[in-house]
Amino acid sequence: MPKKGVLELTEMKRAGQKITWLTAYDYPTASFEQAAGVDMILVGDSLGMCVYGYPGTVPVTMDQCIVHSEAVRRAAPDCFVVGDMPFMSYQASDEEAVHNAGRFLKEAAVDAIKLEGGVRVVSRVRAILDAGIVVCGHIGLTPQSSGQLGGHKAQGRTLESARLVVEDARALAEAGVQLLLLEAVPPEVAAFITEELPIPVLGIGAGEAVDGQLLIVSDVLGTFQAFTPKFVKKYADLAGVATSALTEYVNDVRAGRFPEEQHCYRMLEGEHDRFLEFTKQTV
Ligand code: KIV
Repeated sequence: MPKKGVLELTEMKRAGQKITWLTAYDYPTASFEQAAGVDMILVGDSLGMCVYGYPGTVPVTMDQCIVHSEAVRRAAPDCFVVGDMPFMSYQASDEEAVHNAGRFLKEAAVDAIKLEGGVRVVSRVRAILDAGIVVCGHIGLTPQSSGQLGGHKAQGRTLESARLVVEDARALAEAGVQLLLLEAVPPEVAAFITEELPIPVLGIGAGEAVDGQLLIVSDVLGTFQAFTPKFVKKYADLAGVATSALTEYVNDVRAGRFPEEQHCYRMLEGEHDRFLEFTKQTV
């Protein structure tokens, strides 16, 4: 499938074709996603929990994000890859935000960056856009500031909260973001924003009316087991498959069932006799 850019993704919105988006953090997973025909890949800072075992996304560094983005880019040259700006890579100043967004493009050749926040990150968004970088906004539940939100809670469930989400969406669209992600927002609010904005609006836990869906691949494949958000649909239990395969290996080794003849490199014809001679001489 030819690689899509922002224009093609926007055309998909106009044509009513749903955009498919998954996270990936490594080469094999990204290659499976490209083979499955996924349109977009997010190298999310969720790698903190899904790959490194941190309790959240806050400890994730720019260097970690770059290394994982490079691997994903190599595996999926035909997918639209989005690099996720980790905590404190853009919060301090416009200059730092532009520098770190630029690293994603220069070092990992991603197609766009994503950063969390609405009205309060408009200046950062403008600065990154001015550097010629495609920006995806991320509002609703924003995990990097979940402390301020009172935890990992859905946003926009009251009129007051929904108004804030709509204001954030409008501020980002006005600033010029080319893509917008809504996380854990009621379908009613997501439908309104999707209808109002001309840019592709994607959702994770935002119902079916958005222009496309994002899920975390570790939830989809069942490799992340700490918790499962309500919006997840699990398509496989790779943790179960992997654990039972590894248990079988452990049992085979302990019982002498592995390795078998087919797993051995025997000596070449006649070499064993020569080797026996050699062992006698050395004794
Ligand atoms: O890091 C990530 O995977 C994300 C999603 C939770 C939206 O930002």
